Amino acid sequence: MPITPPSPTPGHAGLFVAFEGGDGAGKSTQAGLLRSALEAIGREVVLTREPGGTELGAAIRQVLLHGDHVAPRAEALLFAADRAHHVATVVRPALDRGAVVLTDRYLDSSIAYQGQARALSQDDIRDISLWATEGLLPDLTVLLDVSAGEGRSRRAGVHDRLEREADAFHEAVREGFLLLAEREPGRYLVLDAATEPVVLHQAVCRELATRHPGLSALVPVGDERAPRPACRSRAADPAGGEAS
Ligand SMILES: Nc1ncnc2c1ncn2[C@@H]1O[C@H](COP(=O)(O)OP(=O)(O)OP(=O)(O)O)[C@@H](O)[C@H]1O
Ligand SMILES: [Mg+2]
Repeated sequence: MPITPPSPTPGHAGLFVAFEGGDGAGKSTQAGLLRSALEAIGREVVLTREPGGTELGAAIRQVLLHGDHVAPRAEALLFAADRAHHVATVVRPALDRGAVVLTDRYLDSSIAYQGQARALSQDDIRDISLWATEGLLPDLTVLLDVSAGEGRSRRAGVHDRLEREADAFHEAVREGFLLLAEREPGRYLVLDAATEPVVLHQAVCRELATRHPGLSALVPVGDERAPRPACRSRAADPAGGEAS
């Protein structure tokens, strides 16, 4: 079922960036590199993840990823409960004080995994998450597009409950992410996850520096001796002034 693009995010002082993609795509690697680059220019960075970015979330993560079978609708609600608590207690307070929040997965993961791959209604999944987060959407979502086979080959021996799903499930997840990015291209940077990590990191920094004038000084980790000249803004800056 086609999904309608969600309504815009209410304004906040900070900048909200989500890393999305299948298991093993390189989300944690890229989030960590971006954190270092942002901290090097003096920005406060909150690096967090879903599920499990809070104490309550860690308990939810345990039952979701390391417990027994969870019915698909219960799975969707548990992810949304984790997200509601995460946004209310970690993400929004950080954005309100002007920090950059980097989250390793956000609501697109729910739409791709529970909506597309579990064959629940994508509109329902999106609506539950938007209700849970009072409409908070990332300013930028970096989608690391990875094939099921490549993702599997990168994961270590231990697989959680979702990682153990068959390749067909992971290909459906991939398709779900790509459809979301196609429908709302302005909110996404889609990158081929098979590219070298350092090259992906450079692309992420370039995108942020271009979109947000306040980040024009951003230099990719490893490029410190060759700082780029400030870029002109290519798009409106949703984070606004000082914090963008
Ligand atoms: N661009 C890349 N090319 C090749 N290997 C990579 C790349 N990025 C990360 N890796 C490697 O792939 C593995 C998974 O990376 P990472 O943990 O960052 O992915 P992830 O998307 O966070 O995975 P998960 O969904 O399991 O948390 C790691 O061993 C990492 O070093
Ligand atoms: Mg990870």
